[in-house]
Formats: sequence, structure tokens, C-alpha cells
Amino acid sequence: MAVADVDPGKAGLVDGSAAFHRDYRDLLATPELDAVVVNVPNHLHHQVCRDALLAGKHVCCEKPLTTDPDAAAELTALAERGERVLFTAFHRRYNRNLLRLRDRIAVREPPDRVVLTYRERIEEHCGADAWYLDMAKCGGGCLADNGPNAFDTALALLGPVRVTGARIRRDVTGVDRQAEVELLTATDGWVRVELDWAYPHGEDKRVFLEWDDGHRDEANLLAGFPEFKSSLHHEYDGVVADFAETVLRRAHRTDSGAFVAGLVAQAYRMGGELVT
Ligand SMILES: NC(=O)c1ccc[n+]([C@@H]2O[C@H](COP(=O)([O-])OP(=O)(O)OC[C@H]3O[C@@H](n4cnc5c(N)ncnc54)[C@H](O)[C@@H]3O)[C@@H](O)[C@H]2O)c1
Repeated sequence: MAVADVDPGKAGLVDGSAAFHRDYRDLLATPELDAVVVNVPNHLHHQVCRDALLAGKHVCCEKPLTTDPDAAAELTALAERGERVLFTAFHRRYNRNLLRLRDRIAVREPPDRVVLTYRERIEEHCGADAWYLDMAKCGGGCLADNGPNAFDTALALLGPVRVTGARIRRDVTGVDRQAEVELLTATDGWVRVELDWAYPHGEDKRVFLEWDDGHRDEANLLAGFPEFKSSLHHEYDGVVADFAETVLRRAHRTDSGAFVAGLVAQAYRMGGELVT
């Protein structure tokens, strides 16, 4: 095993048996490594994933796969050509409350209306260098950051969706702090995704579903996980297990990463002003 980080201070966090590199290209040059996990700021995903695929590695990349859909398509093509796995770490699809909801609704017709909320105060989540608040590095604001996980949650639960409308509220610096995106499923189910990067009450991530016959269901993705970010442990166990299994099965799989990058770009293109 090996770890790379430009910050030499991270070396102390690494298990003694793992090599530490400051330049990720040195890690990629290690022939014994079959697969890598890319966990760097968003604007670096494309370059690092590209280099990893060209080095013949299977790749699990943090969301968003890239900040530009064309770059995501290029990575997908590269992975397919090289018969490598390109996998996006959409951790919410492994959330146990979401999986229970998915099991409950599997016996019903698809829901007619869905509201998916993704609220947090970004300042409580960004790391020391606050790159999340630099639109050039993040790829945007709440839509670029939380949109991918929210959209992939919709895909995991409802199947393919397309963007039919979007409204965005920006702060004085131009960063999108709130957004509402409307999606339509393949069975004409209506979905509204509500994103909030300025939520003053901690974190709130939920899905509400409604059927025309009056039935309702919902999942609070953070229920049972009272500590800050504590649901992430079991979700990332799911990511790693699924990625490892995909690599071991030698499935040349690419996932919804590029499709989701397209949904984010489409929402930005359609985004009128959010007024409440
Ligand atoms: N923090 C979360 O809860 C969370 C959840 C889901 C997804 N993500 C995604 O994970 C990724 C990382 O987010 P984070 O919150 O861990 O950021 P972070 O800033 O805490 O960590 C990023 C790390 O990348 C290192 N780095 C920067 N440039 C590098 C380079 N060129 N080569 C090697 N290392 C480099 C930094 O030194 C730092 O250790 C992002 O894409 C983010 O969207 C984060």
C-alpha cells in the first residue's frame, strides 16, 4: 500500500507499512499497485485520474468525478480503452437508511413526487485551506459540491433522471449558496433537489416520497448517526467494498460519475434566480 499527499504533515497519519510520497506520480509509478483512490480537491480530479488511468491503475475517485462533463467523458473513454475500472465514490448510495427505503419501495410503483434535501453550513465542512469556497477549485458552490451526491442518490433510488429546471441563489461573491433543481424520472416522476450551503442548524439530508394514492415514505440519511460525519464510516466501507469487488471481478465498469457531471452542468446552465 502507498499514500501520496503534497502536505508532508500527512505522512505521520499513514500506517507504518505504507510508503508515503509527496508527488502522486511517484505512487503511480509503483508497479505492484493495481488500484488507487483519488481524494484531492475537485479541480485536480481530472489530472490525477487521467494520470492514474494512463499508468494502468483502476481508479476510485471522490465526487465530483470532474468539474467539467467533457473531462469526465474523456476519463470514461480512457478507462474503457484501457479496460480499467473508473468508479466514483458516491458514498450516499451505501447509506443504510437509504438502502432500507429502497427495499421498502421496491414492492411499489415508482413514487410520483420526491423531495431530496441536502443542507449544511459549508464552513463546518471545509478543510484547512478552504478550497471548497474557491469556485475555481470546487467547480462552483453548493450545486458543484453537494449536487453530485444528491443527484446520485436520486439515481440510486429512482433510476435515470433529467434536469428540467433549476434556481440558484448566490452570495455577494457569486458563490451559489442555495439551489433548487427539478428532475424528471423515466416514469415522469417529479423530483425536487434542495441544496443549502448556508444552513444554520447543522446537517440535514433527507428524502421524502409521495404517491398519488396518498402513500408516503421518507428516509433521514443521518438518523442513527448523531456524531458529526459519523454516517460516513459505514458509507465509505460500502464504497471501498464495492470498488474492490468491481476490480476483482475484472468488470470494466464505469459508473454514473460522468452522467452526474452532466446533470450538474445542465443545472448551472438552466439556473435562474432563486427567490423565496
Ligand atoms: N470531506 C467530506 O466529507 C467529503 C465527502 C464527500 C466527498 N468529498 C470529496 O473528497 C475530496 C477531498 O475533500 P476533503 O474534504 O478531504 O479535502 P481536504 O482539503 O481535507 O483534503 C485534500 C487533501 O489533498 C491533498 N492534496 C492537495 N493537492 C494535492 C496533490 N496535487 N497531490 C496530492 N495530494 C494533494 C491536500 O494536502 C489534502 O491532504 C473532494 O473531491 C471532496 O469533494 C469530501
